[in-house]
Order: sequence, then structure tokens, then C-alpha cells
Amino acid sequence: MKTRSTRAIPCAAVLTVGGLLLTACGSSGDGGSGQAGPASFEGRGPISYVAAKDTTGTIQPMIDRWNKQHPDEKVTFIQLPTDADAQRQQMIQNAETKSDAYTVLSLDVVWTSEFAAHQWIDRLPEKQFPLGKMLKPVVETAKYRDGLYAVPHSSDGGLLYYRSDLLKKAGVKVPPKTWAEMKDACAKVQKLPEGKGVSCYAGQFQKYEGLTVNFSEAVHSAGGVVTGPDGKPNVDTPEAKKGLDFLVGSLKDGTIPKKAVTYLEEDGRQAFQNGKLVFLRNWPYVYSHAQKSDIKGKFAVAPLPGLNGPGSSSLGGHNLAISSFAKNKATALDFIKFMSSEQSTETFLKEASLAPPYASLYDDRELIDQYPYLPVLKESILRAVPRPRVVPYGDVTASIQREAYAALTGSKSSAEALKALQADLQKSVAR
Ligand code: GLC
Repeated sequence: MKTRSTRAIPCAAVLTVGGLLLTACGSSGDGGSGQAGPASFEGRGPISYVAAKDTTGTIQPMIDRWNKQHPDEKVTFIQLPTDADAQRQQMIQNAETKSDAYTVLSLDVVWTSEFAAHQWIDRLPEKQFPLGKMLKPVVETAKYRDGLYAVPHSSDGGLLYYRSDLLKKAGVKVPPKTWAEMKDACAKVQKLPEGKGVSCYAGQFQKYEGLTVNFSEAVHSAGGVVTGPDGKPNVDTPEAKKGLDFLVGSLKDGTIPKKAVTYLEEDGRQAFQNGKLVFLRNWPYVYSHAQKSDIKGKFAVAPLPGLNGPGSSSLGGHNLAISSFAKNKATALDFIKFMSSEQSTETFLKEASLAPPYASLYDDRELIDQYPYLPVLKESILRAVPRPRVVPYGDVTASIQREAYAALTGSKSSAEALKALQADLQKSVAR
């Protein structure tokens, strides 16, 4: 993980909500509250939209639609790397140099507090967005200290993709609810002629944000926590160890193939689509890709498994924010309304299986016919555990990535890694 030094902002833990430590930071121009009122959104003209490289092929066509209707307010799509940490770094660099090159930012849900507290993004006029129609936990990710700083665009919940054809052949009737059941199912599949050379399971285990997601899911799915109900780190526990041990043990015994320590989302997706995996933990966007691949009709989706029963996902997703240093903010605000509208997010769901923020789309019969897993996804999102909502999120995730990766690659035992992680997290959130 590439770390960076941020502008020094004194932060203090102020309150905890749902086990999350919220942090207040003093900064210039807001009387030390860290929160300015909604900015004024003036100026019309060309703007840019900055997001991860589009692996779905749906973003540019949507921008083209906007551009056709707004010839004097055209949007240029700036695509950043697929690795979330690299996106964050480039956006921070843009903010630290106060550049106006980036206008609308597609922010990972875990960056809201950091970007808002540093005043790198503008507070938005909450009443202008249909937040009441959106899933509540998703809207929460766009807020910092009660102010709205971004608008939900796509949500994300972790899903267990599995080869339904192979499970059926092996006589496994229902997808596994526990890790042990998953290993059993794999052992049966691997005895089939078709199961030869097929690995059991993979997620995202490269040292980047995806590892923070997968580590947190393993810990939560074994009954542990990263931060406790009081918002304080509490990861050096027997429960958390069971979660990490599942990943470490699975790499050792071959349940997870060794090369998965280099996997980002796309690597796992390719391996699954190429028939190299029985099970894959990944986000909803994979569904639409896999339906267009050789495994079309041969896979299905289930909730993530856990130690003693269903596991829990980390809450993912992206929200749209306006860079404080941008020009043409009236255009930017309208573009956010367009991209986050029910109609646009329904298109992103239909064409690319991106999880919409709007609650009603999960209960739509026609959509469920196209995407039978929608009810599973809604549950996954509603039950998902947010990653720590703290201003020094960059430090928190860097620590998780470093220690989890050390355990996965065998340079530390699970116990040593969790002990070091607990000490590091305590330092980060105490600052
Ligand atoms: C997805 C999620 C995001 C997460 C990232 C990790 O893009 O939406 O929240 O941080 O994956 O790789």
C-alpha cells in the first residue's frame, strides 16, 4: 500500500454510532467544527468525471447521453486505475495541489470522512436528492457528521459465486453456509473428472483495499470485530483469530490457490470465468460479466459463508462528490443528479449488474427475473458491516493490509499479526 502524509489536522474521537468511531477534525474556515454549510454551486461549462477504469463498458455511453443533451456542459471521463488505493492517491494529489482538473469524483464509500474533513469535497444540498428512497446504510456512507458530502451511485455487497453445475454433479444440493461446508463441497467437486485442476476458493488477497475488505469479512464472519461497539479497535481476540486463521489455513492447505495473494477483483473474476475456481467471493458487477462468458448458466450466487453459519459482507460502493477546487459546479451538481437518478442506476443494474442505491429496484419482479440474486444482494447490503468511518482511514487500511498480508504470506503468525494490528489501530484512532 502506498501511504501518504496528509495535511496535519487535529482530530478527536467524538462519538460512536453503530460501533463506528466518528472523528471530528478542526480545519480552517469552519470555526474548527470541520463542517462547512452547503457550498454554492455556480458556473456552467465543461467538467470532468473521475472514476476507476470502467470494466463494465456502461459509463461512457451514459456520459454520451448527457453530452448529447448538454452540448455546452460536456463531461470528460477520466479513468483511474482499478486498484482503489491508487484511485485514492491520485484524487488526494489533485486535492493537495488544489487542481481544478477533477470535478465530479466517484469516491469509494470508505473515503467520505477523510475527504470531507479535509474539505477536499463540498458539502451538498441534501434536500435536492431523493435520499429517502435509498437504502439507509448506503446513504450513511455519504455523510460526515450529519452533512451530506456525496450521493450514492452504486452500492456493493460481497457475494459467493459458485459453480452450480459442478456442485450438482458432485451431489451437493445447497450452497455452503459455513467454511467447513464449502471445503467439503470442494473435496467432492475435485473428485469429479471436471473438477481436476480446479481450485476451491478465492477472494481479493493482494495487498490493497480489497484485502481490507476480505480480512474484515473473515473476522466478522467468525464472530469477531475490527472495531468494537464503542468504536475502539478490538481485533486481538480469539474470534478475530479464527477468521484470519481461515484465510491463512486455506492458503496453506490449498483451498485458496497460492497465486490468489496477487488477486484484485478482476483476477479472481477471470479465474472463475475460466473455470479455475469452484467458489469466488466478489462484488455484483461480476454477475453480468460471467453471464457473457463460457460459464453462462453454470453458476449461481449465495450469501457469503462463515464459521458457524452465514457470514457478513463488508459494505462497499461508490458515491459521487464534487471537488472543492473544481469549476462549473452548477453543471457538476446536475450531472450528479443525472448519474445517481433511479433511471440511470437502473440502467447500470440492467446492463452491468451494478448494485443500485434505490430500495425499490431490489423488489422489482422484472429485475429479479433478470437477476435472481437481487434479494440475496439486498440482504448482503443491509447486513453488511461498514469499514471504520474515520478521518485517518488511509492509516487504518494501510495497517490492516500490512498485517493481514504478513499473515497470509507466512512472515507472521495470525496471533502476531493481530497483536501488531491492534497496537497500530489504537495509535491511528487516538490521533
Ligand atoms: C469495490 C467496492 C469498494 C471497495 C473496493 C475494494 O470497488 O465498491 O467499496 O473498497 O471494491 O477493492
